[in-house]
Amino acid sequence: MSLIGVFDSGVGGLSILDEALRQLPQHDYIYLADSANAPYGEKSSDWIAARSLVLCKYLASQGCDAIVAACNTATAQAIQQIRAELAIPIIGVEPGIKPAAMQSQNGVVGVLATEATLNSDKFNALLATLPKDCRFVKQSGAGLVPLIEAGQADSAQTLELLEQHLEPILEAGADTLVLGCTHYPFLKKAIHQLLGQHITLVDTSHAVVKQLGRQLDSLNKSSAHQECGSVVFISSQDEERLLAMANDLLSHDLKSHRVSAVLLGQIS
Ligand code: DGL
Repeated sequence: MSLIGVFDSGVGGLSILDEALRQLPQHDYIYLADSANAPYGEKSSDWIAARSLVLCKYLASQGCDAIVAACNTATAQAIQQIRAELAIPIIGVEPGIKPAAMQSQNGVVGVLATEATLNSDKFNALLATLPKDCRFVKQSGAGLVPLIEAGQADSAQTLELLEQHLEPILEAGADTLVLGCTHYPFLKKAIHQLLGQHITLVDTSHAVVKQLGRQLDSLNKSSAHQECGSVVFISSQDEERLLAMANDLLSHDLKSHRVSAVLLGQIS
């Protein structure tokens, strides 16, 4: 059995934790939400890289066998540095533009992600490897993360902002939309309301957790245990609120896990 660290700027990475608890429930998890500093997507590359490294070092110091950077923004800005500094597997999350290009019928794909992800070298290098016959309509989701952090994923204000962001994607006639930020799967209902049920939404959580499973196998850390493991929720802002949001946002029932909530003290 392993201890797996999962971190994000806030509650977005819960979309990855949800899938991890579904595929690999027998492991122990620490979910670390840096909500005091969300959103990351509008911060500088240097800040995001430095903070992500601090969080990963903290998770490693807690005994994590592997870490999931459950944040596209942190992955884009920091994953190479984190991998260079820590000797445990670090699994990142990237916008699923490649599967989206393969799934799109009309070759028009919307990509909704943070400004920092869309501007990153890593994202643009990935984009450059894809066939030129697929058109990507890139759109920053500025302002959406704070609303989701405030528990307003389904509010009228969120719907209105989302409608503005999705307009260019709708106008371009995209049949596929990449959810390039781990917060955005919590907007699936609102997105379908605005774009209709026919739009294909691409979120990479399933593939990310498969990759985590492979890494644990290679460490001989996969488990035959049947019992569910523990989940510790750590927040840099308000641990009880994080736990309440986890209960609200996760589709996985936490009842069969040992659950606790902790406030993150000063780390550096
Ligand atoms: N959930 C994160 C991502 O996947 C970060 C969003 C933010 O804090 O701006 O990019």
